[in-house]
Amino acid sequence: MKKQIITVAGGGSTYTPGIIQAVLHGQNRLPVSEIRLYDIDATRNENMYLIIQYMLEQQGFSNIQVKQTANPEEAFTNADFIFSQIRVGGLTMREKDEKIPLKYGLVGQETCGLGGFAYGLRSIGPLLELVGFVQKYAPEAWILNYTNPETIISEAVRRQYPGIRMINVCDMTIGIEDTLAKNYGYDRDNWIATYYGLNHFGWYTKIYDKSLKRDIMPELLEKLQTQEIKEEDPSWNRAFNMIRFMVQQFPDNIPNNYLEYYFYPDMYVNYADPNYTRANTIMDGRERKTHEMAEKIRNKVEGDILDFYFGVHGVYIVDIAAALLNDEKKRFMLIVENKGAIPNLRADAVVEVPAYVGATGVEAIRLSAIGDFHKGLMEAQVAAEKLLVDAYFENSYQKALQAFTLNQTVPNATVAKQVLDEMIKANEAYWPELNK
Ligand code: NAD
Ligand code: G6P
Ligand code: MN
Repeated sequence: MKKQIITVAGGGSTYTPGIIQAVLHGQNRLPVSEIRLYDIDATRNENMYLIIQYMLEQQGFSNIQVKQTANPEEAFTNADFIFSQIRVGGLTMREKDEKIPLKYGLVGQETCGLGGFAYGLRSIGPLLELVGFVQKYAPEAWILNYTNPETIISEAVRRQYPGIRMINVCDMTIGIEDTLAKNYGYDRDNWIATYYGLNHFGWYTKIYDKSLKRDIMPELLEKLQTQEIKEEDPSWNRAFNMIRFMVQQFPDNIPNNYLEYYFYPDMYVNYADPNYTRANTIMDGRERKTHEMAEKIRNKVEGDILDFYFGVHGVYIVDIAAALLNDEKKRFMLIVENKGAIPNLRADAVVEVPAYVGATGVEAIRLSAIGDFHKGLMEAQVAAEKLLVDAYFENSYQKALQAFTLNQTVPNATVAKQVLDEMIKANEAYWPELNK
């Protein structure tokens, strides 16, 4: 099999080692000759380059070349797969997405609520630029995108580059399945899960276990009612136990944990520290640690230097790439244009549904019509996200204000406008101009 060239866009991300670890483990299905790290931040990219080279050396992969660059032509020419995970504005801007809404008593979060919308308006431009580079230098390559906020990005890319070879993917569904299986004593490899919704905004309706030969949804729902969840990464415990809380109120389906921000914004605002949010936790944790590891490698410190928590994030994206390459027709939850997958939701919504991946790309399955509760929630969210993308393409303040007002974490148009106006100032270097 031809050895593949993989480019990681946002190479300096602390998620890169987990992805590369999965690539190394996946050499039988996704053989690789070259890994390229592409990033606009030379320091972060150089640090990651040292770490990845060190990983490869330690694990005996001297046959795989590693390169790092900020030059798109070098990064993408002849690449087979682009794994995209850029964070426009970095963690400094994530901190603002989280803290500005909180100042107004609203949910401040990376991808949900107004923080997610601010991040969306910031990310569309650079992501479209990235897709343009790939179109120019590697038009046959597949882009597997993790960059958030996924639905907004996906909606913008769909408009500008219809038919693009790009798959948008989120690790949350696989993360939820992994956690449920481990906590409640199942083997996830036996699961065929049915889930529908928007990204970070959906529900499991069925989980068929191949070895048990039954739908285990009823028993999972029962366990969620009573049995606490413990995550390997304890900073996720609250999110998973919010799934339990939601099941206690709405016992028919298993919700994505991110729905807590729409259903219980009050609880989140009470819990959050407006002076120290998730961005601060990451800066003081994962980011600092990664920098320290690179320093140790640079200074040739002996002993165990690498200390990462990988989870399922890297494995999931590598599995998708392998499914494309080997025509595996494997099932994943993917973020796609609806086109009837959810028959009673607008066809041009960007949804997250089960889909099979093979040589020709993604084939989403057709689900049954959904009930009014979920449909109503989703329709409002789809409309808000579409208005936000309209605001980007039309440079429209009015559309942005409509999007902010319609967001379901926002109680009234007064506060929507206040947050929008403050976000415009905070994002001056990133947002398109919004004309009144
Ligand atoms: P990070 O800030 O640690 O790393 C992102 C890297 O992207 C940085 O090194 C930055 O310099 C680089 N970058 C920014 N703009 C760029 C551009 N225009 N071109 C090239 N590189 C650029 O962020 P992170 O926490 O590692 O997250 C990375 C991204 O992945 C974020 O968008 C995050 O939301 C997303 N993410 C998504 C999922 C998912 O399930 N979809 C899971 C994890 C992370
Ligand atoms: C999950 C979500 C991602 C999100 C990430 C944030 O993986 O699916 O969309 O970006 O969590 O994790 P962090 O540790 O950066 O807060
Ligand atoms: Mn996600």
